[in-house]
Amino acid sequence: MAKHPKSSAKPDQKQVKRIALFNHKGGVSKTTTTFNLGWMLASKGHRVVMVDSDPQCSLSGLVLGYKGQDEFEKFYKTQPGRNIRDGLSPAFESRPKEIEGIKCVPVKGNDNLFLLPGHIRLSEYEVSLGMAQELSGTIQTLQNLPGSISYLLAKTAEFHKAEYILIDMNPSLSSINQNILMTSDYFIVPTSPDYFSVMAIDSLATVFPRWRAWSKKAGSMPVFHEAAYPFPTIVPKFLGTIVQKYRVRDRSTASQEEGSAPTSGTPAAGFQKWINEINAKVINTLLPVLRQHEMTLSDAEYHKVGIEKDYCLASISDFNSLIAKAQEHQVPVFLLTKEQIRLSGKVLNLTNESKDIFERIFSTLADEVIEMTTDDHGS
Ligand SMILES: Nc1ncnc2c1ncn2[C@@H]1O[C@H](COP(=O)(O)OP(=O)(O)OP(=O)(O)O)[C@@H](O)[C@H]1O
Ligand SMILES: [Mg+2]
Repeated sequence: MAKHPKSSAKPDQKQVKRIALFNHKGGVSKTTTTFNLGWMLASKGHRVVMVDSDPQCSLSGLVLGYKGQDEFEKFYKTQPGRNIRDGLSPAFESRPKEIEGIKCVPVKGNDNLFLLPGHIRLSEYEVSLGMAQELSGTIQTLQNLPGSISYLLAKTAEFHKAEYILIDMNPSLSSINQNILMTSDYFIVPTSPDYFSVMAIDSLATVFPRWRAWSKKAGSMPVFHEAAYPFPTIVPKFLGTIVQKYRVRDRSTASQEEGSAPTSGTPAAGFQKWINEINAKVINTLLPVLRQHEMTLSDAEYHKVGIEKDYCLASISDFNSLIAKAQEHQVPVFLLTKEQIRLSGKVLNLTNESKDIFERIFSTLADEVIEMTTDDHGS
């Protein structure tokens, strides 16, 4: 059984930088980005805890190499307490014990990187959290719930001396997501270049103000800040979007001939159109709303990393054949070895070239994140 770090002191919720990766649209690379960015931040010397808050548990599956429910059930049984649901259970199941930090799973191949595993039944806590967050009725019995996730993450980060927490969220507008997003210091919105991502940005521009109004109210209610797990007063700041998984204009015929070389470069025209539309939606619709609700950094902060024109932190093309190999070996795409890639000749050269480009893209993304989160922008 995993040992729990015991400490009754209230954690300093400001010490660690929490970054949520959120879009209620599914399949936009939230999990993939959490893993690749988390790995890159950790490679740059920062201690990082990745949190899997999605009951689909894709991130946990990727890191632990699990394929099916049986493997997860075995993990929950043999290592009780070592997942997000068990960590929260003292609050949600009114256990007579305090929430403690979780001893996370170390990620193979990276000493600075840890996983707080997800749980496929975390969604069972949705209803009670939703009731607690309605801010009405007999709230006293539920007063410890809204601050509990934040408390668990702070305690876990404290135990691991983490500088960053990256939270992989599920694609929904659930109470848990509302809670996690609004108690994070920063958030990134991953997107994919299609019509649905454009629509999703539109709907986020109506969701965020509602969530902000809720967190403002919850933060001002004595019942929540006098709770055993106080609800933190945080205003999450938008770092930017990421657009991912577009096809590029053909660089060479080698990939066409042999069919397996990944490419990276300028998006093909059909994808560029959607990228432009996403950027326009962010600039014209999302940003003004976020600014109005103090959920942005200062203009100078975006300018500092050169994203003031489109608020796009990174454009990442389709990894093609590299994605399956990265998943098979549980490593980021940019760290696949020649043996793992299993290609030769022209295709291998092209693949290596693309891999280097992906490495540079994630390195730049990590540098931007470090730069933008270095000062304390929280309010
Ligand atoms: N750049 C990429 N190139 C190729 N495939 C990718 C890329 N990014 C993600 N994928 C693949 O696309 C699928 C969706 O990605 P991912 O699981 O990261 O999205 P998600 O936003 O976390 O999805 P969900 O909303 O279901 O949690 C996965 O199969 C993943 O392996
Ligand atoms: Mg996911």
